Amino acid sequence: MTKRVAVIGAGPSGLAQLRAFQSARNNGAEIPEIVCYEKQADWGGLWNYSWRTGLDEYGEPVHGSMYRYLWSNGPKEGLEFADYSFEEHFGKQIASYPPRAVLFDYIKGRVEKAGVRDWIRFRTPVRNVSYDDASGKFSVTAHDLINDKKSTEEFDNVVVATGHFSTPNVPTFDGLDRFNGRVLHAHDFRDAVEFKGKDILIIGTSYSAEDIGSQCWKYGCKSVTVSHRTAAMGYDWPDNWQEVPLLQKVEGNTCTFKDGTIKDVDAIILCTGYQHHFPFMTDDLLLKTANRLATADLYKGVAFVNNPGLFYLGMQDQWYTFNMFDAQAWWARDVMMGRIELPDKAAMIADVKDREDREDSNEDDYACIRYQGDYVKELIAETDYPSFDVDGANEAFFQWKKHKKKNIMTFRDNCYKSVITGSMAPVHHTPWKDAMDDTIESYLKN
Ligand SMILES: Cc1cc2nc3c(=O)[nH]c(=O)nc-3n(C[C@H](O)[C@H](O)[C@H](O)COP(=O)(O)OP(=O)(O)OC[C@H]3O[C@@H](n4cnc5c(N)ncnc54)[C@H](O)[C@@H]3O)c2cc1C
Ligand SMILES: NC(=O)c1ccc[n+]([C@@H]2O[C@H](COP(=O)([O-])OP(=O)(O)OC[C@H]3O[C@@H](n4cnc5c(N)ncnc54)[C@H](OP(=O)(O)O)[C@@H]3O)[C@@H](O)[C@H]2O)c1
Repeated sequence: MTKRVAVIGAGPSGLAQLRAFQSARNNGAEIPEIVCYEKQADWGGLWNYSWRTGLDEYGEPVHGSMYRYLWSNGPKEGLEFADYSFEEHFGKQIASYPPRAVLFDYIKGRVEKAGVRDWIRFRTPVRNVSYDDASGKFSVTAHDLINDKKSTEEFDNVVVATGHFSTPNVPTFDGLDRFNGRVLHAHDFRDAVEFKGKDILIIGTSYSAEDIGSQCWKYGCKSVTVSHRTAAMGYDWPDNWQEVPLLQKVEGNTCTFKDGTIKDVDAIILCTGYQHHFPFMTDDLLLKTANRLATADLYKGVAFVNNPGLFYLGMQDQWYTFNMFDAQAWWARDVMMGRIELPDKAAMIADVKDREDREDSNEDDYACIRYQGDYVKELIAETDYPSFDVDGANEAFFQWKKHKKKNIMTFRDNCYKSVITGSMAPVHHTPWKDAMDDTIESYLKN
């Protein structure tokens, strides 16, 4: 086979693509030549922690948005790889909400076993991707940062797996330019200890707001004030935590909110989400979508409707993560290998519209979880990705939501059953709020 495939990004999505091809080769198929471009020095995407913020040592925007002490915000039973269980990796079952370092180790374990590291060109950001109608090929220009050399190569297919939680969405508020404390976006948050003894204001009500606020509370901040644009989170928060409507103005350290509440704070953390950002794609290849379950312009959530040679992985808002990226990667692989045929453009556009309509009719988060679980099932059914009990994984998410509602500061102390091996996770040795050490050694002690 002389086909060439470029995979951009070696995070969980890009690695899923490499594993999908390697698995086909293991089963005796002839696979295309794969080149994976990765701008960081190591694989793992967001799970590869960096202390850096802003620009890195080469002047590249830092990709990382993860911070110290981050533990999984959902049960690991919802994201387990169907072809590589936690028990296979760790040699035993582990508790349900692993810290970042534990999940990073797990992600690495599967691809180390697959032996695909030498398909990746590290420290090589892609600068430009264009498509030539006449040749039917993509040109990919990448920058080898170590040797400071740019080069262009041709490919039959391109898979974009660069994630969408790295380029911050940064609104402004009246008076921020005169605020006497620190203002930062969640993307640049690294260590809650910095805010010990401080009054902090968080803007936003989604996962970053909830988790960064909880981290700061756990590591001893004085108070947390969370300001919402649409609706409060409504959990039963600790006593030094309040929820207020949207920030209206800042004068010195004094913040005034829409309902007239006034609060003096030392730091403002904008947990206001991220942008889908692909500065390296030419306009005709560029995905423009909101952060939602039914992404715009992607047939089956993966194949770009305007160019059947181009795929985007992991672009959805995410309940499911690692195993959904796998389902997408196996499916995209089978299109690239001619095992699945794409319909015509009109049918692909109709598929996107149908997905959007169905998402819009979801009444609550439970329906959204089922919707994304059904999507995972749909893709898996069309490939040889090992089938698993997606309804069981949905159930773990339902339980997770209930545990959060019951107590937002103890939900991570619960455990769930693996849908891959059927075994129950052990209760972790230390409640999350008392577990200050997030190392892999500490987590695996039980
Ligand atoms: C703070 C935070 C916490 C999270 N916590 C969880 C969690 O607990 N559980 C969970 O399941 N999910 C979590 N997520 C969701 C996360 O999106 C997924 O787990 C996963 O990392 C997505 O994988 P990805 O490969 O699509 O993207 P990423 O992990 O973002 O990886 C993309 C890769 O592409 C590379 N790249 C980017 N641009 C270029 C370029 N131009 N050229 C070459 N390479 C490039 C990057 O360096 C990176 O390695 C979290 C996200 C954030 C932001
Ligand atoms: N421990 C963990 O595992 C962990 C921790 C943090 C993040 N994450 C992951 O990171 C990803 C991103 O989460 P996220 O919370 O950063 O982003 P997000 O889910 O996209 O949420 C963005 C938030 O910003 C608010 N917002 C946007 N623009 C605003 C404005 N102009 N003014 C006020 N509020 C505004 C939104 O409010 P509206 O509701 O009004 O739109 C929403 O609450 C998720 O996949 C999440 O799971 C995981």
